[in-house]
Amino acid sequence: MTPAAIPPAQRIITALDVENKAQALALVRTLDQAALFKVGLELFTAEGPSLLQEVQALGKGVFLDLKLHDIPNTVGEAARVGVRHGARMMTIHTSGGRAMMARAAETAGEEAAKRGIPKPILLGVTILTSLQNDDLASVGMTPDTAGQVLRLAALAKASGLSGVVCSAKEIEVVRKEVGPDFLIVTPGIRPAGADVQDQKRVMTPSLAVAKGSDYLVIGRPITQAASPSEAFAAIVRELETVR
Ligand code: C5P
Repeated sequence: MTPAAIPPAQRIITALDVENKAQALALVRTLDQAALFKVGLELFTAEGPSLLQEVQALGKGVFLDLKLHDIPNTVGEAARVGVRHGARMMTIHTSGGRAMMARAAETAGEEAAKRGIPKPILLGVTILTSLQNDDLASVGMTPDTAGQVLRLAALAKASGLSGVVCSAKEIEVVRKEVGPDFLIVTPGIRPAGADVQDQKRVMTPSLAVAKGSDYLVIGRPITQAASPSEAFAAIVRELETVR
């Protein structure tokens, strides 16, 4: 499927930022329109791989957001195990370099072929949105967040990853850099009128998709809504208006 052809409900990745399996699975059961759920460091550390199996047993896809960053062999083997656990999407820090990303793409592809399943989507994390120019300088990087994001997005593409995670404000420049077929996944999404919480730079779902984002990571506007399924359905309706 070309990125532009993704149906609206499948563009929404619901972030399961909850403390335990019971809360996570309750959300998964409620959101019957949803296709993909993000399990991050906190929930995975609390509940381990069995949670991933249970989400999949409910017919949903798992985005395993562990932001891997280590030597190529370690990241490659971790990506392989992620495929064994059935993860459809995984994240890797692009600053781990080309060999690390290439190895992960290779091992994930190998493992998927062995199992006769589609190759998972490996996404590169560029510069965390919690970092600013001063923070980059303090770790010896050029203090130019936008320039670094573009450089790392290009490196992720050249290394064989399928896409990147970036902030909504970077969608257009990254899209120009990577072309139409490389995936862009954006958090920091807030439907019009929603509480922005701790997100500083937010964008509505429809604007993010209109600017070129393929998938939207959305947590609290769905998970903390009075009716998560209604909140989800409202976002789908909003996305159906994007041409
Ligand atoms: O609740 P909210 O919609 O803000 O959740 C967004 C999700 O995206 C969280 O899981 C958060 O960790 C993740 N994320 C983010 N900003 C980034 C990277 C990831 O908000 N730059």
